[in-house]
Amino acid sequence: MSVQNFVAYNPTRLHFGENVVDTLGSVVKQYGKKVLLVYGKGSVKKYGYYDKVVNQLQQAGLEIFEYSGIKPNPIIEDVRLATALGKEKNVDVIVALGGGSVVDSSKIIGLGIAGDVDPWEFMTWSAKPEKTIPLVAVLTLAATGTEMNGAAVVQNHETGHKSGFVHPLNFPKDSFLDPAFTVSVPADYTAYGIVDLIAHSLEAFYGAGEPSVVDRITTDIIKDAMEWGPKLMNDLSNVELRANIMLDATLALNGLTNYGKVSGDWGVHGLGHELSLLYDLAHGATLSMAYPAWLRLHKDRIPNRIQKMGQLLFNTNDVDDAINQLEAFFEKIQSPVRISKGGKETNKSEVLNQWNRNQVSGMNHKLSNTDHEKLVELMY
Ligand code: NZQ
Ligand code: ZN
Repeated sequence: MSVQNFVAYNPTRLHFGENVVDTLGSVVKQYGKKVLLVYGKGSVKKYGYYDKVVNQLQQAGLEIFEYSGIKPNPIIEDVRLATALGKEKNVDVIVALGGGSVVDSSKIIGLGIAGDVDPWEFMTWSAKPEKTIPLVAVLTLAATGTEMNGAAVVQNHETGHKSGFVHPLNFPKDSFLDPAFTVSVPADYTAYGIVDLIAHSLEAFYGAGEPSVVDRITTDIIKDAMEWGPKLMNDLSNVELRANIMLDATLALNGLTNYGKVSGDWGVHGLGHELSLLYDLAHGATLSMAYPAWLRLHKDRIPNRIQKMGQLLFNTNDVDDAINQLEAFFEKIQSPVRISKGGKETNKSEVLNQWNRNQVSGMNHKLSNTDHEKLVELMY
């Protein structure tokens, strides 16, 4: 069956467009009086988004407590500290102001506040979450799709894991996406965001199930990003181009590309997460390193599928040409396509050991230790 049985669920109310944040206060007010405002290392203050959000919350008469300092590739320590603050202040609702790292952390902070166990226990399924508190996201970076999905990714350096946790309780209640909040994203993270949304589409494409219409939708999302992405890289403050990419990113991972499928694959994300954990490489950068290599590993295993990607994306029947064109696109927007070009000191055998240790694999296409060996060679 090309169309697999599936269940679709998405409870997030999306507020998209310029000045949508003008209604933030009234929306958050529905969920209570005490707000935990979570943000990152300071970009939101520097570029004025913090002031806009705080004004809204104050005008609505809400009491605000803040947790700041969430780092890219967020860590469980911050989640724990923010959870403790939220419990102490007895907050009713979380407002996450930032990119994927802030929103993901806030999802687990919500579970932590409503629960009675160490939040990492949710990430490992050692504890089953029963409830959460409402989460409202104000997104400042187009990339992850976290604004409209049930996933959260957090690192734990003690245990040596970067884990993804997917649960219906994780969906934000409301997400506010004003493309003007993303004009300050620097060139490198803009490129990583474009890579990330393309990678999400490909993870879906290489998942189990091949529904014809969804193959078309999924590759059209990629084509849209490939059309507007390079233009945006030359015109970073262009709100219209930012809006195109922001919508692409949401659509790439809000469930749509999984319709008619059993699952996505997510092997490439697994490979990338271990690189972020080891070397603090940006998420999108790890994906532009891993995707061409993964495709080269699989070109004799799933030639027809890769050929279909090539036909839909690049109008080519040649599998090698398709992979090369994808890699060339990543290079064009200056996202690194080799680990050795990622700007960090890395170690090949350390990478391999980490992949083996955590048995990195895909849900649809399994990866063995021998595959890891081939992949590490292809990626250096
Ligand atoms: O910390 P601040 O100062 O805010 O700076 C951030 C950070 O340095 C900066 N930034 C964000 N918005 C900005 C801005 N700078 C200027 N102007 C703005 N408007 O950008 C840097 C990166 O932020 P981050 O939140 O880490 O980026 P992203 O949105 O790419 O999130 C990456 C995280 O999400 C996870 C990744 O693994 C990674 O940990 N993912 C989450 C997914 C999900 N929940 O569905 C799926 C993804 O595959 C991914 O795994
Ligand atoms: Zn991703």
